[in-house]
Amino acid sequence: MTTIVVAMGEKNEIGFENQLLWHLPKDLKHFKDLTSGHPVIMGRKTYESIGKPLPNRTNIVVSRKSDWFQEGILIVGSIKEAIKFAKKIDEEVFIIGGGKIYEQTMDIVDRLEITRVKADLEADTYFPNIDEKIWKKTNEVFHEKDEKNQYDFYFQTFEKINV
Ligand SMILES: NC(=O)c1ccc[n+]([C@@H]2O[C@H](COP(=O)([O-])OP(=O)(O)OC[C@H]3O[C@@H](n4cnc5c(N)ncnc54)[C@H](OP(=O)(O)O)[C@@H]3O)[C@@H](O)[C@H]2O)c1
Repeated sequence: MTTIVVAMGEKNEIGFENQLLWHLPKDLKHFKDLTSGHPVIMGRKTYESIGKPLPNRTNIVVSRKSDWFQEGILIVGSIKEAIKFAKKIDEEVFIIGGGKIYEQTMDIVDRLEITRVKADLEADTYFPNIDEKIWKKTNEVFHEKDEKNQYDFYFQTFEKINV
């Protein structure tokens, strides 16, 4: 199974100036619980935004640069190569962004794990439109904002409709 994991606002906004748009510790824990022990695939900009390899996961970073090297990650030149490597490691593979990588993988993944944040924020990076003819919501859990989590949000699972 190949799964996209993303947190987005009400207008599908996901980032601004190479940063996330909110601070939601509950969502960070959810992300960790979903992805720990499995390979994660990300774009070079998302990797630089995180700044270090995510622990307990093989970090596969996609870049077209031939002169870019970082310790502790696997750098590949295409998304196809990233998925090929990831599948050799584990059946469960997670694609964790950012915008450029989501755009190019929406059509090939089986599942979306979305955190839908109840906020409308300024952004420069967006998640693609989720076509309801292709994707069916199979689970949704609401979380109310609290002193540590600044917005209400939903954890949602979407699965591809078999046609
Ligand atoms: N809310 C969320 O869940 C979430 C998750 C992840 C990221 N984000 C946000 O998203 C933003 C970053 O997204 P982004 O769209 O700017 O960048 P990105 O998708 O993280 O990375 C783009 C880079 O990936 C490489 N790349 C993309 N397609 C490729 C391909 N087909 N073959 C080879 N390399 C390829 C290129 O690297 P080179 O330039 O090195 O060639 C490209 O510049 C940040 O604001 C981040 O905080 C949000």
